[in-house]
Amino acid sequence: MEKITDNSYSAGTPQRILLTGGAGFIGSHTAVTLLERGYDVVLLDNFSNSSRDVPGRIERITGKPCPCEEADLLDVVATSAVFEKYAEAGGFSAVIHFAGFKAVGESVEKPVEYYGNNLTGTIHLIEAMRTHDVKRLIFSSSATVYRQDNPVPYSEDFPLGATNPYGWTKVMIERILTDTAAADPEWSVALLRYFNPIGAHESGLIGESPQGIPNNLLPYVAKVAVGELPEVRIFGDDYDTPDGTGVRDYIHVMDLAEGHLLAMEYCGEGMTGAFAWNLGTGVGTSVMEIIAAYGRACGKELPYSVQPRRAGDLASVYASTELAERELGFKAKRGIDEMCRDSWRWAQAKV
Ligand code: UD1
Repeated sequence: MEKITDNSYSAGTPQRILLTGGAGFIGSHTAVTLLERGYDVVLLDNFSNSSRDVPGRIERITGKPCPCEEADLLDVVATSAVFEKYAEAGGFSAVIHFAGFKAVGESVEKPVEYYGNNLTGTIHLIEAMRTHDVKRLIFSSSATVYRQDNPVPYSEDFPLGATNPYGWTKVMIERILTDTAAADPEWSVALLRYFNPIGAHESGLIGESPQGIPNNLLPYVAKVAVGELPEVRIFGDDYDTPDGTGVRDYIHVMDLAEGHLLAMEYCGEGMTGAFAWNLGTGVGTSVMEIIAAYGRACGKELPYSVQPRRAGDLASVYASTELAERELGFKAKRGIDEMCRDSWRWAQAKV
């Protein structure tokens, strides 16, 4: 008997995918990838950390409609209303759940807000999905769920743990979703553990827009390159790494978007249960190498100074990519120079 898959191009009518936090950095790039592959998308966003311009920009890039529902997952009625609105037109085939607070330092200062927002929002989403019989969920997790004493490269079966409330919300949501899938065999859940997503869409129309002074390296370097900040602060040059600066696994956001598509299709092919996959490149790059690569991208040497280590940082973090490659056929294609070039194009467009 022929295997029937419900992928959009094989089924005739496009599947509709709901993206919570869809106007944010990773959500917006994933929306582009889905639309380009023939899926319909609906974004759900409260715009607490994203811009109302984004859906229109996605439409400009793809030439396809990108409806966006302004709603907060904490609001049960509003969340449910989004599912009801689309129910008659066939509803959603899957949900990709990006919405959540994500600043590590802020989570230490406001733990209750972080647990309240990230966990409660997810539970409301699961309840709305259950009510509307949508049981395929792709979750934005993070490499931060791996306990700090794990050796590199990080493999999906390593022990989990976190060092801050933000990280714990990811560990806890993974648990909630795993238990949900165990209790109801119709659920299919992907837990995508991102390493360090950077870059931007090559059009320069969408990218990352952190509010205030960025905490993460790449947005900070971008602000130095455009002249908004005076110099890059390197947090420690005495780590046990080739040049003494911290090593991370940076992945282009468009490669990451592809990973979501592949995970969503895998989960739609009759695979039920909860699956964790790393989304990284498997390649480590140091802070010094990033500063040099960004300098090449923007055509000038970037000033920097060496500062003390940042509390909670590790010397070296990178992914084992073997499982995602074997099960999903996922392999990141873009290198550091392309990531910096696309980040620089977006940074300039914003000035
Ligand atoms: C951080 C979070 C992680 C979160 C991720 C989201 C911490 C400890 N970890 O990861 O939980 O999932 O962001 O993207 O906050 N660096 C500098 N100067 C800077 C900023 C960073 O030298 O101004 C260095 C850091 O020491 C590190 C590397 O750059 O070696 C990357 O830092 P960052 O971009 O903040 O990412 P992570 O710390 O890997």
